[in-house]
Amino acid sequence: MTLPHYDKKLNVRPVAAEDLAQARAVAGRAFGEHCEKWYPEPARTLGGFDGNGQLVSVLEFQLETLWWGAARVPGAAVGGVATDPASHGKGCGGGLMVQTIHYLRDQGACITPLWPFSFRWYGKFGWACPGPVLKLKAWPDLVRQTGARPGSMRQATGADAAAVQRLYTRGARLRNGQTVRSAAYWEKPRTLAQIQVIEGPRGALRASAQVSIAARDGAQGRRVRVREMHGDSFSDQLCLLRSLAELEGITLLELNLPAESPFVHAFAEQCDMVLSHEGASRVLDVKQALEALKAPKDLRASFGLEVADWVVQPKKPLAFAVQVEDGEVQVKEGAGRQALCCDINTFTRLFSGGLSTGKARQLGWLQGGGKAQDAACDALLHGRVPYRSEVEMG
Ligand SMILES: CC(C)(COP(=O)(O)OP(=O)(O)OC[C@H]1O[C@@H](n2cnc3c(N)ncnc32)[C@H](O)[C@@H]1OP(=O)(O)O)[C@@H](O)C(=O)NCCC(=O)NCCS
Repeated sequence: MTLPHYDKKLNVRPVAAEDLAQARAVAGRAFGEHCEKWYPEPARTLGGFDGNGQLVSVLEFQLETLWWGAARVPGAAVGGVATDPASHGKGCGGGLMVQTIHYLRDQGACITPLWPFSFRWYGKFGWACPGPVLKLKAWPDLVRQTGARPGSMRQATGADAAAVQRLYTRGARLRNGQTVRSAAYWEKPRTLAQIQVIEGPRGALRASAQVSIAARDGAQGRRVRVREMHGDSFSDQLCLLRSLAELEGITLLELNLPAESPFVHAFAEQCDMVLSHEGASRVLDVKQALEALKAPKDLRASFGLEVADWVVQPKKPLAFAVQVEDGEVQVKEGAGRQALCCDINTFTRLFSGGLSTGKARQLGWLQGGGKAQDAACDALLHGRVPYRSEVEMG
């Protein structure tokens, strides 16, 4: 592989309070936006400083933990990546990404999600799309035709925080890559203002959705965008959708969903669905990411793994022996013979659960190993759909 060009001498460190004005000015020029409120915490803002000590590139990160089934994997979401246009194309952005990978590893993060402007650009540094998300457009009549009845829908209050948290956590643990949120997240006034809930017979919450409603561009009526939906069952979610469809003036419903959502099958007429290649992730620490997993109790599996990660270990692939027993994943140095071989981009997709070893081989992204190693790797990693809500930072 030819290594991307990047500035190896760029000095990357958390910015000082006095650097914030320059960081925001750089972002403002790079994004062509007002960025006066960006990068609220200097300790979570990494600046790239050139040989003259001038801040030329910047990004923000947030340490957070992500659900992988029952396991919590420490991670760090990255956003607001910018280089001063006067320094574009000189490797300042690349230098910032490379040093950020090392910095976040030192902070104990095993995986880093972001919303990429270009998969090609971030792909050079190891990021890849762990799996598509589903964007579905439906019309109120289509929702009525399902026969679902509207429920008693209302805006959430602070008293609902624990119940919404329960609904969210249940759904998040069925997938890989969603943020572990605390009940405090659902108490924020800005969040509460966006949440609609459906109550069951005894006042218990059956479903919740984070929604935004706006006038449609160039069309009559208003559209409701469901940015996240959580429910005890599919029929509870459908009931919430029907209730949203009955809000005054709604002519379009847009849903952002995990790719395996039952909504794919819910409608009896034509509707629009797009599988969208949007979010990207990168495993920062292969060993710790694997060890953080909680394997099924009855799974016994072992395989060798060679992962080419030129940022973390430039000269030779990372090599590990992975052993799964009694629900624990043990990872030792050294892959042995018949190791599965791939790059860090492919490993990130395998780890996220959306890509099987068979598909990776079809794509030409996985070599080595054999049937037994493929089966062992899939038994540990493959299955739960990777999903990251667009509400999350990145
Ligand atoms: C993206 C950005 C940070 C890159 O910064 P930079 O310092 O110019 O990056 P580098 O010099 O390390 O890399 C430049 C390389 O990226 C490539 N590149 C630039 N824009 C690109 C794009 N839209 N898609 C793919 N590649 C792109 C250049 O062709 C160059 O390629 P090369 O390495 O083969 O010569 C900068 O262009 C920027 O601030 N853009 C506006 C804000 C933005 O979109 N940020 C990303 C948000 S996710």
